[in-house]
Amino acid sequence: LGLLVQQAPLYYPLGAVNQEYLEKTANKAMELIEHMSQTIDDFRNFFKPNKEKSLFDVKEEVARTLSLMEGSFQGQDIETVVDITGEAVVEGYANEFSQVLLNILINARDALVERRVEDGRVVIRVGREKGRVVVTIADNAGGIPEEIMAKIFDPYFTTKGPQSGTGVGLFMAKTIIERNMGGLLSVRNTAVGAEFRIEV
Ligand SMILES: Nc1ncnc2c1ncn2[C@@H]1O[C@H](COP(=O)(O)OP(=O)(O)OP(=O)(O)O)[C@@H](O)[C@H]1O
Ligand SMILES: [Mg+2]
Repeated sequence: LGLLVQQAPLYYPLGAVNQEYLEKTANKAMELIEHMSQTIDDFRNFFKPNKEKSLFDVKEEVARTLSLMEGSFQGQDIETVVDITGEAVVEGYANEFSQVLLNILINARDALVERRVEDGRVVIRVGREKGRVVVTIADNAGGIPEEIMAKIFDPYFTTKGPQSGTGVGLFMAKTIIERNMGGLLSVRNTAVGAEFRIEV
C-alpha cells in the first residue's frame, strides 16, 4: 500500500498519471485495505472468549483450506493426498480450525521449498479414534531437528529469517486446538518428514 501511495507523485511529472492509472491504483489499494481490515477482524475475534461454538465438518474445512493453498502447492510442484475415513463432525470454531490447517500446510510447503525436495508430498488423513476426530498432516521434507522439537510451539520461535517467519504460526495453532477447542496438537518425525496430529 505504501508503494502504491508513493508511486503517484513520482509518476506524475513523467506524464504517466491518467484516469486509467488512478483507477487501477485505487482498485489495488482498496483490495489491500479490504484484506487488512479482514485480518484485523479475524484477530479481534480470535481472543473473544464468548464466541459461539458450532458443529462443523472437518472434511469440509480440509477441502476449503486446501483450495486456498492449491495455487501455491502446484506452483512448487507439491503433491497433496487426502485420505478420509468416516464421519468427522466436531463442535468448535470452523474458521479457526481452518487457520490451524493453513499454518501447518504453509510450514510443510516452506520446509519442502527450503530443502529443495524434488518429489514434495503432503498427506492429510482424517479419521476417528476412540470417539475423537484425528487429523494428521505429514510431509516428506526431512522432519524437525531433535534439538528444536521442544520449542516449535513457543511464541516467536522461528528458524526462518525475519522476512519470512515470525514464529507465531504453531503457537496460534496450539492455542486454538488446545485452549479454545479442548483438543490436542502434537508433532513427531516419521522416516521421511514431520507429522502433525490434531485430535478434537
Ligand atoms: N513441517 C515442518 N518441517 C520442518 N520444520 C518445521 C515444520 N513445521 C514447522 N517447522 C519448524 O518450526 C518452526 C516454528 O514454526 P511456526 O509456524 O510456529 O513459525 P514460522 O513458520 O517460522 O513463522 P510463521 O508461522 O509465524 O510465519 C519453523 O520455523 C520451523 O523451523
Ligand atoms: Mg509457520
